[in-house]
Amino acid sequence: MFIERNVSLQPLNSFGIAARAALLARVRGEADARAVLADAEMAALPKFVLGGGSNIVLTGDVKHMVLKVEVPGRRVVGETERHHIVEAGAGETWHDFVTWTLDQGLPGLENLALIPGTVGASPVQNIGAYGVELQDRFHELDAIDLHTGEVFTLDAAQCGFGYRDSVFKHVARQEGDFGLAGRALILRVRFALPKAWQPVLGYLDIERRMAEEGVAVPSARQLYDWIVAIRRAKLPDPAVIGNAGSFFKNPTVTPEQCADIIGRDPKVVHYPMPDGSVKLAAGWLIDACGWRGKRVGNAGVYDKQALVLVNAGGAQAPATGGEVMTLAKAIQTSVYERFGIRLEPEPMVV
Ligand code: EPU
Repeated sequence: MFIERNVSLQPLNSFGIAARAALLARVRGEADARAVLADAEMAALPKFVLGGGSNIVLTGDVKHMVLKVEVPGRRVVGETERHHIVEAGAGETWHDFVTWTLDQGLPGLENLALIPGTVGASPVQNIGAYGVELQDRFHELDAIDLHTGEVFTLDAAQCGFGYRDSVFKHVARQEGDFGLAGRALILRVRFALPKAWQPVLGYLDIERRMAEEGVAVPSARQLYDWIVAIRRAKLPDPAVIGNAGSFFKNPTVTPEQCADIIGRDPKVVHYPMPDGSVKLAAGWLIDACGWRGKRVGNAGVYDKQALVLVNAGGAQAPATGGEVMTLAKAIQTSVYERFGIRLEPEPMVV
């Protein structure tokens, strides 16, 4: 196990926000986690589990002990009647894992290509893109309880998946509450990839590609290539411009609220949901309020996609977490004043 003191977290969060951790341990497996728990000083500290750092906003130095998850490994572990089961260590880079599954001839994760972050973070926010959510391909995961040192396995129901949400995003205030944030460290995740694979289509961007290239039924590799290209064109590469992907969740409203907004803004982008509610494109709402390209200090709104906030100051003059949150609050206020909708941040604010 590697313990470091007074560590800069700037290279460890995709926003590139400057902050420090008093104590950080690199965890490559359960033995490392158990070694932390066996140490009286470290065991007593509250813990913050850090994956790829691609979905967090650091608003100051981190007082908690940081556990940086670096569990390696990826393998095909078995099969059921309808699925191949593949497993990856929580520290593997998500996109490399997706690429590896396709190289093994096992499609199913291609719509989730190029999502930043690690495998261990993927269930935390139930990552999703182009009609596929992690929960659609999830089998189970192994985690270690940071209070007891016990390793346990959770299935999909126990993970409590929701839209960009899971049990790992909630803090339990007392024993028995829903929430494993700060308590569970995910070690390995297993995925169930369908043997009878079918492409998941239906997204405008993908249908446009199919029409352009005259392809009626794309292969998994073709979908993967398109999605990588679409994301590269639309979303900033965190290696170049710091960001945490979509900064707000797409809000849902009642059909009556939606009709009211359409009455005033006929162009509002909206999608009817199976449960009767209507999902609105947060990016469109923010764009309509004129935020694209605007800045607060060194925090900015990405000029090609208003849903993404960026570190406009780069590594030399990085935005602070405070600037990012000031910008986020100003956006929330203006969207609320114009549309009566409260936008909810998507990344974890630390
Ligand atoms: N739009 C604008 N102006 C903007 C941005 C968007 O008018 O500045 C409009 C677009 O034209 C489009 C609609 O809003 O009609 C939706 O935009 P887009 O498809 O770009 O993004 P999204 O559907 O809001 C979601 C996920 C993304 C995921 C994509 C693709 C959320 C919060 N975001 O974005 O996930 O990649 O769909 O499936 O659900 C992430 O979570 O970090 C993320 C990037």
